[in-house]
Amino acid sequence: MTEETVQIGKNAQTTWKTAPTWIFVEIMLAIFIVESLDMVLLHYAFPSLSIFAKVVLDGLILLVFLSPALYLLILKPFLRQNEERKRYEADLADAFAELHDRNRFIESILTHIQSGIIVTDPDMRINLANDYVSHFFGRNSAELIGAELAEVCPGIFASICAGIDAAEVAVNSSSNYLIVGFKRVDLKRVDGTLAGHIITFVDISEIIKFRNEMRKKERLATMGEVVARVAHEMRNPLFGITAAAQILAMELKLTAPQKELMNSLFTEARRMNHLVEELLDCSKEMILKKTPFDLVKALNESLSFNEVFIIEKKLNLQKRLPDGELTVVADPERVRQVMVNILKNAVDATATGGTIAVGLVKTGGDVSIHVTDSGPGIADDAIEKIFDVFYTTKKHGTGLGLSISRKIADAHDGALTASNNAGGGATFTFTLPVGAAA
Ligand SMILES: Nc1ncnc2c1ncn2[C@@H]1O[C@H](COP(=O)(O)OP(=O)(O)O)[C@@H](O)[C@H]1O
Ligand SMILES: [Mg+2]
Repeated sequence: MTEETVQIGKNAQTTWKTAPTWIFVEIMLAIFIVESLDMVLLHYAFPSLSIFAKVVLDGLILLVFLSPALYLLILKPFLRQNEERKRYEADLADAFAELHDRNRFIESILTHIQSGIIVTDPDMRINLANDYVSHFFGRNSAELIGAELAEVCPGIFASICAGIDAAEVAVNSSSNYLIVGFKRVDLKRVDGTLAGHIITFVDISEIIKFRNEMRKKERLATMGEVVARVAHEMRNPLFGITAAAQILAMELKLTAPQKELMNSLFTEARRMNHLVEELLDCSKEMILKKTPFDLVKALNESLSFNEVFIIEKKLNLQKRLPDGELTVVADPERVRQVMVNILKNAVDATATGGTIAVGLVKTGGDVSIHVTDSGPGIADDAIEKIFDVFYTTKKHGTGLGLSISRKIADAHDGALTASNNAGGGATFTFTLPVGAAA
């Protein structure tokens, strides 16, 4: 820490030339010289003059001779001293004005700086706290001055008592718990004794949140690589198991219970295969193979892919599609994948006998596909979470479908959003730019 002392003005110095004794000696010397000359001159020049006239004349001569000496020896130094005093006074006034400006400058920095600044005495009692501190703790500065740091900010106080000069601590602000980064420095007097402490702090809650998110993302990226590797390694053995089971099913004469077991083996293998494919999709970079195709036809195909489930659940399907074709430039496989996913989710969410409405509208350069169901809708706090990897509320769900679908929508510079309907159920909207074909 650097210590700075400010010196204001200088004391006027009395030189030997202006010392009163010296002036007196000089005057006496001058009087002596003038008087000696006077005596001789008056005696010889005017021998007949009366003693009174001689005294008057002598006085006049003395005054004439001494006036320059008096000016030089008394008046001039006095005037000079007066001038110097005025100059020093002006210097002093300037220095005070400068000091005042500096104070105002420092005060304005303290007021507007986006960090808390607290100055305490050696016993940790607050002597100064800037506006940031007042806002942060929701207490006015009059309340803060004289308060114990331990009472205002126990977190920082405890760290300082533990000998920690800089750290991140949790602090109870006026609204909630926040993380602040603080630093403490000693405030020393000119003689080196401790005058108190300067404590500065800033709210770093957002930075910490961002840092944690980054770490989470890094962890997820690493996990994603592992998952992709595992999925890749599983694909071939899974294919081998399914193929072998199919051969066995054809060559063996199975009893009814054995056939049932074999069927459940196929069902589970299909599920595993679907999971592996989704995992690979999720971890792979999205490379699109864009081509012009009819979106109305692709949507109808996606519906027929789900037809069996729609019939099984006796769902009422309402379609609001354009009459003719609607050509878009996009990756047809990927777009179909999104539509199949959101339609299957709608089927899963809707109870037997419920309704699913599918709409397709073109607005400007975009085309939107709406899938509305009469299911239970989505919990308010889950409306964004449903797009997270592995978020599922289903017993056999993978929690990957919507995550991949959003990745596909984003890769097309489109969007996939979810909302709840006023009358119950959910609506998923998949928007795509029509592309060069428009
Ligand atoms: N139409 C819908 N209505 C209500 N909830 C839905 C709907 N679509 C999706 N969800 C919720 O989003 C979750 C994630 O969906 P998804 O990523 O497709 O994974 P999965 O279908 O394997 O569960 C579902 O488990 C469900 O909770
Ligand atoms: Mg799904």
